[in-house]
Amino acid sequence: MIIVGVDDGFNRKIANQLDAKLIPLEIRRFPDGEVCPRILIKDDNDIKGETVIFTHRMRASSCRPNDYLTEILLTLLNLNEANPRRIILVAPYFVYARQDTAFRVGEPKSAKYVAKTLEWAGVDVIVTVSTHFHRMKTMSDFFTKAQGINVSGFTPLAKYVKNNYELHKPVIIAPDEEAKIWAEEFAKILGAKDYTALKKERDLDTGEIRTYVGELDVKGRDVIVVDDIVSTGGTMANAILEAVRRGARRVISCFVHPVLAPGALEKIMKAGVFEAIATDTLVWDKAKVTVTNEISKVLLSILQ
Ligand code: R5P
Repeated sequence: MIIVGVDDGFNRKIANQLDAKLIPLEIRRFPDGEVCPRILIKDDNDIKGETVIFTHRMRASSCRPNDYLTEILLTLLNLNEANPRRIILVAPYFVYARQDTAFRVGEPKSAKYVAKTLEWAGVDVIVTVSTHFHRMKTMSDFFTKAQGINVSGFTPLAKYVKNNYELHKPVIIAPDEEAKIWAEEFAKILGAKDYTALKKERDLDTGEIRTYVGELDVKGRDVIVVDDIVSTGGTMANAILEAVRRGARRVISCFVHPVLAPGALEKIMKAGVFEAIATDTLVWDKAKVTVTNEISKVLLSILQ
């Protein structure tokens, strides 16, 4: 078994935990924007007949999901030409997952098409982290040939908070109804009894977000706002603002995927957050929590 991926701490950790060799992937970007991911092998025999784990992360704040997807597709097709035994893709952040349906006539069901394209490129297993297809129940609703495995990024996030903060009467807040399951998971791990969800509406044309709050008793208490993705930061910042306005003692923002479009982090800071905590599903130098242990665990179980 071999691991193919950029030679960074994240991939080295997985390689160590699996006791496997990491074959580096070198990403070259040409001046016109085309990408060229090169697998640093001697020849195809390094791959032939092997189980290959290809692990690749997008860069936070890069706003380059298309480059990331292209790098994955080119590498999968390239690997397949060398006849591996099977390919397991670790893509911690599944791009286009939010567009899992056509919201307006004529729009693509992007998440479904991305899944199909990955299967077409020859992937056998896909391991991803806290990918939430809002209108689908499981990963297998998307993949027909490949096996899809979704690892929770909320578990290590919640454990980090539990181990690093003395929380005072904590309340866990989901910024919208869909995030309520994660607030519940968080509350369970923290042993907190109070969790709730706000209501959110997003204008489909302008992207503007409105947050509605019902009863919210947070005065003098520690609030933890939990979400899967922070992209523009609008959803997270609105929830933080509401908690601050109602007299929360501290507001800690926890999210799995720091996509962080330009200005997102500043928006959250300005809203009055005490600390922003995210995982390393994307390449971000301020990520405090790693999901590598969860990924290695699942990989070991597949490889048995
Ligand atoms: C969508 O429902 C997700 O769970 C997140 O709430 C959303 O992607 C965050 O996006 P933004 O940071 O742009 O508000």
